[in-house]
Amino acid sequence: MNVMNAAHVRHGSNIGQSFARREGVLKVTGAARYAADHHPAGMLYAVLAVSSVARGRVIGLDVAAARAHEGVVEVMTPDNAPKLAQHPDEKSNPFAFRMDVLQDARVRYVNQPIAVVIGETLEAASEGALLLAPEYEREDIVVRFEEAERFVPAAVGVGAPPVESHGDVEAGLRDAARCVDVTYDTPAHYHNAMEPHAIVAEWQDGKLVIDTPSQGLAIAQGRLAELFGMAPEDIFIRSPYLGGGFGGKGLIAGPQVLGIMAAKLVGRPVKLVMRREQLYGPIGHRGMTRQHLRLGADGEGGLTAIEHHVLTASSRFDDFFEPSGAVTHSLYATPALVTRYEAVRLDTGTPLFVRAPGEASGSVALEGAIDELAAACGMDPLAFRLKNYAEVEPLTGKPFTSKALRECYAQGAARFGWADRPLAARSMTDAAGVLTGWGVGTATFPAHMFQASARAEIRVDGSGLVEIGAQDMGQGAWTALAQIAADGLSLEMAKLEFKMGSSDLPDAGIAGGSAHTATAGNAIHAATGAAIAALADIAMSDEESPLFGAGNGGVVSRNGHLYRRDDESRGESYAAILLRAGRDCVEGRGEGAASQEVMEKYAAHAHGAVFAEVKVDPELGQIRVTRLVGAFAAGRVINPRMVESQYLGGMVWGVSLALHEEAIMDARTGRPVNGNLADYHVPVNADIPSVEAIIVEEHDTVINALGIKGVGEIGITGTAGAIVNAIWHATGVRVRSMPVTLDKLLGV
Ligand code: MOS
Repeated sequence: MNVMNAAHVRHGSNIGQSFARREGVLKVTGAARYAADHHPAGMLYAVLAVSSVARGRVIGLDVAAARAHEGVVEVMTPDNAPKLAQHPDEKSNPFAFRMDVLQDARVRYVNQPIAVVIGETLEAASEGALLLAPEYEREDIVVRFEEAERFVPAAVGVGAPPVESHGDVEAGLRDAARCVDVTYDTPAHYHNAMEPHAIVAEWQDGKLVIDTPSQGLAIAQGRLAELFGMAPEDIFIRSPYLGGGFGGKGLIAGPQVLGIMAAKLVGRPVKLVMRREQLYGPIGHRGMTRQHLRLGADGEGGLTAIEHHVLTASSRFDDFFEPSGAVTHSLYATPALVTRYEAVRLDTGTPLFVRAPGEASGSVALEGAIDELAAACGMDPLAFRLKNYAEVEPLTGKPFTSKALRECYAQGAARFGWADRPLAARSMTDAAGVLTGWGVGTATFPAHMFQASARAEIRVDGSGLVEIGAQDMGQGAWTALAQIAADGLSLEMAKLEFKMGSSDLPDAGIAGGSAHTATAGNAIHAATGAAIAALADIAMSDEESPLFGAGNGGVVSRNGHLYRRDDESRGESYAAILLRAGRDCVEGRGEGAASQEVMEKYAAHAHGAVFAEVKVDPELGQIRVTRLVGAFAAGRVINPRMVESQYLGGMVWGVSLALHEEAIMDARTGRPVNGNLADYHVPVNADIPSVEAIIVEEHDTVINALGIKGVGEIGITGTAGAIVNAIWHATGVRVRSMPVTLDKLLGV
């Protein structure tokens, strides 16, 4: 099989270095232009009017009042909205989610757009929207598990089966010496990226030019092409910077489409920026879960069975089911396991990918239950994990492409000081009388790859160009991908022109699933390799070149030169080769994608271990995470500074899952009670006094040519479990409902 050996892959002086973000100065000086920073000549402002009811129809809008308001140019409603070429409820592919874009008067969730007011100023449009005074015909709603009818979904996540198993779980549980039977709840989460969804749209002679944040330019282009009945190449999207994505910008959302429709209606460029409160509805969220786990262990503390049943929720009109059971397929060795799903339909917007979709919510439940089983067996929770972690993927029996989990446990534990942990709960109190506890959680995330293409050029002036339609959500793609590009062309960074972030460049797939560096990076690696090979062909067939006759594979590139492998005193510069050949440049193209052969034979995951210290006030129930140490192994590290930052960011979101985040729906109205950043809690600096991420070295020679696995989402996994387990260790109380707020610990 064609498994490439990463250790033998040529790479130069850029990969592995902690370069600062190449666009950092632009960002801190305000020179980086985000979508909403664009102001084409003649631009108007569009403002959404959104529904305050969760289900029904709009039967009245005072369009006349809004239109009469000074500065209002037009009001777009289902009566005058441009009709789309494809109905927005049509699902032409698994990534086409239904959207609400004024094709009819139906209301399917709170904060659904019901009109767009377009004005000369933002103020005029906003005031106009307030005058619409909508009237509704309301229908009964369901926003809680208890009131809804359960069913088994056809698929969960992206096409995964709703039941997966191996072995005899009932027998494993029957024969177990110790069992746990527990239910963990996780609430709905909203993405809450700093930058709201925004679009500046302009129609130019039937072509569409838009500035909008997107985690996947070609997917967005394809969806818009279907909706507007145009060729994808007639749609130009710029998305050089995203102020966070978190999955919410993975697919084009209804409000972005409305901005384009508004521009079409008025025949002028239009800017539409969602208000913070409007983000709680039309752009997706993490579906809530209720996870029932049954686990068994034998007399020596070896797992005998795991059953992981997930109840989750989608919307009434579309399908996305949070795949919380997936972590159980790969983490712990057990002779029998089953994951099963049930779901309900609620009158909310449709859930979507949010920061480790499935793995985040699933890992807090599995890690909590594993900890409970360790305690039932009288074992240290780390020792229990070391005994039970999987050497091969338990569901499939496949070996991992690489797995350095033991090293993660060891390095994390040493740094944290885990060896001093007393076994019994509620046995540590600090000098101020505050209960102290230590917990551990295992982290994991699949090493996905999507499909990407890249183009590379070597020019006669000795410089290089690499082009790929990749996205930077803040994770550092501008820097890391440029490092791969520079090394691929054997050029110093200063000699590289690197282009990404627009839809006219080769399709880079989606910046999601923690797969972007692996996918886009390997496409760049292939394209730059092809450009070097094309240059070598020119030189080797040129009698005047010192490389003449070096033969295939007999040439190495280094610092803008090619040399004979058998005699490195013989070489010449890229510029000299091209100049003599009378060429302006040579180009190479390449693809990045998962190898089907590798995927059939191997399980591919990044791994890690997270250790947490918490303090719980015994009188007030107040919880503080005082220390977090994570150790992660995810293959080749392109830029340690960016990778550490990704791990830390993920761990902070893990704190958020454990202690802060919770979208609360009013059961009577279906309205988010805390749909704004003041009331929807996320951790702030004061909540994170000490967080460390250790980069554990791992050489994955199987996963892809560069040996890269994803680092974006793994940090959230394991972290929430470690915190919940530490809270138990501090207090002796198991809280199984996220987030763990102080009311759940009062009187401990
Ligand atoms: Mo992410 S939820 O894979 O954008």
